[in-house]
Amino acid sequence: MNRIVLGVAGGIAAYKAAALCSALVQCGDEVDVVMTADAERFIGALTFAALTRRPVHTSLWQAPEMIPHIALAREAAAVAVVPATANVLAKLAHGIADDLLTNVALATRAPLILAPAMNTAMYEHPATQANLRTLQERGAHIVAPEAGFLAERESGVGRLAERDVIVAALRDVLARSQELAGTRVLITAGPTREALDPVRFLSNASTGTMGIELAREAIARGADVDLVLGPTVVEPPFGARVVRVTTADEMCAATLARAAGANIAIASAAVADWRPALAQARKVKKEDAPPALALERTPDILAALGERKNGTFLVGFAAETHDLEAHAREKLVRKHLDAIAVNDVSDPASGFGTGDNEIVLLWDGGREALGRGPKRALARSMWNVLARLRAARSNG
Ligand code: CTP
Repeated sequence: MNRIVLGVAGGIAAYKAAALCSALVQCGDEVDVVMTADAERFIGALTFAALTRRPVHTSLWQAPEMIPHIALAREAAAVAVVPATANVLAKLAHGIADDLLTNVALATRAPLILAPAMNTAMYEHPATQANLRTLQERGAHIVAPEAGFLAERESGVGRLAERDVIVAALRDVLARSQELAGTRVLITAGPTREALDPVRFLSNASTGTMGIELAREAIARGADVDLVLGPTVVEPPFGARVVRVTTADEMCAATLARAAGANIAIASAAVADWRPALAQARKVKKEDAPPALALERTPDILAALGERKNGTFLVGFAAETHDLEAHAREKLVRKHLDAIAVNDVSDPASGFGTGDNEIVLLWDGGREALGRGPKRALARSMWNVLARLRAARSNG
C-alpha cells in the first residue's frame, strides 16, 4: 500500500482523474486528493471523497492548524498531478506556491509525476515545453500526452495519457524510488582542464552529460549521490552533492576523499591523461611559445579507486575507437572493476558531447548491449543492469 497525493488541476480532463483515483484505490493505495479551485469547476470534490473515503483537500485554509501542505507532502510516497495544466506546469517550474496543490508539490521530497493535458497550441508553446524540460531536469516524471480527439473538437497532441499508462508510470516510479535507498553513490563526470598558462589549457570534448544522467537516475532511485564534476555548462541534477573541480589532481583528491563511504562508484569522467609538465604563471606570448609541449601523466583516478576498494561496487567507462570489447575487458581486469561501460567514440553519432550514446556493459562472465539512445534513457537501462549485478554480488 502506498500513500499517494493525487493533485487535480483545472482542465477538462479533470473528470478522468476520477477513473485514475478509482484504479489506485482498487490497487490498495491510500489516495489523498488535492484539487485546485479551477478543478472544482470541472468535477466535484464529493466524487473523490466517495472514491477514496477520505477528506478531499481544496484549500490551504481548510484546517490551517494542521499545516496541510506539509503533512500531505511528508506522508506521500509520490505526488501525481493529473491533469497537469499549462498553468500548473508553469507554476511548478518556477516554484510558485499560491494554492494547496502547488504548495504540496514544492514541499515534498517524494517523486513528482506529471500528466499534462491541454490544447495542442498551449502544449507546443515554447514556454510550456521549456517548463516541462525544467521540471524533467529537476527529476519530475512526465507522462506525455497523446494525440487524439480534444475538447475543441479537433485532433492534436494534448490528450491526457490513458489511465493505465499513468498507473504503470506511477508504479514504475514508486518501484524505482526505493531501489537504492540507503546506498551511497559516487560519480565522476565531465572533462578536466590542465593549464598551459593562465588563459590556455588542454582538455577534451566531454560535457559530463552521461555522468550527470547517471547521477539523476540514482537520485530518482533513492540513492545519496556525490558528484565530482569537471568544468561543464550542463547543469548537475537537483539533489546531488556536487563538488566542482578543474584539474585531474583536484578530481582525484575530491574523489578519493569520498571513496571510503561509497557503496557504488562510477567513473564516467573523461580525465585528461596528460598535463603540461610546466604550467606558466604568466601568459605565454606567441613569439615565446615552445616548439613542442613537454607533458606528464595525470593520476588514474579509477585505478586508484580499484586499488583501495573495500566492498565498493566499481564501474568504469571505456571510450574506444577500435577493438572495443577487448580493450574494455583488459581495463575491467587491470582496474579491478565490477563492470565497465563501453562506448565507441569513433562514431560521430554517439559518444562525447552529443545527446545520444551507445553502450555495451561488460562484467566478468557477462555482457549486455544497452543499445543506442538518449543518455537519459541509457542511464536508466544502465542502472537496471548495475542494480541487478550488485544485488547478485551481495547475495552470492
Ligand atoms: N579514468 C580515470 N582517471 C584517468 C583516466 C581515466 O579515472 N586519469 C577513468 C575514466 O573515467 C574511465 C576509465 O578510466 O572510467 C577509462 O578511461 P580511458 O581513458 O578510456 O582508459 P585508460 O585506462 O586511460 O586507457 P587508454 O587511454 O589507453 O585507452
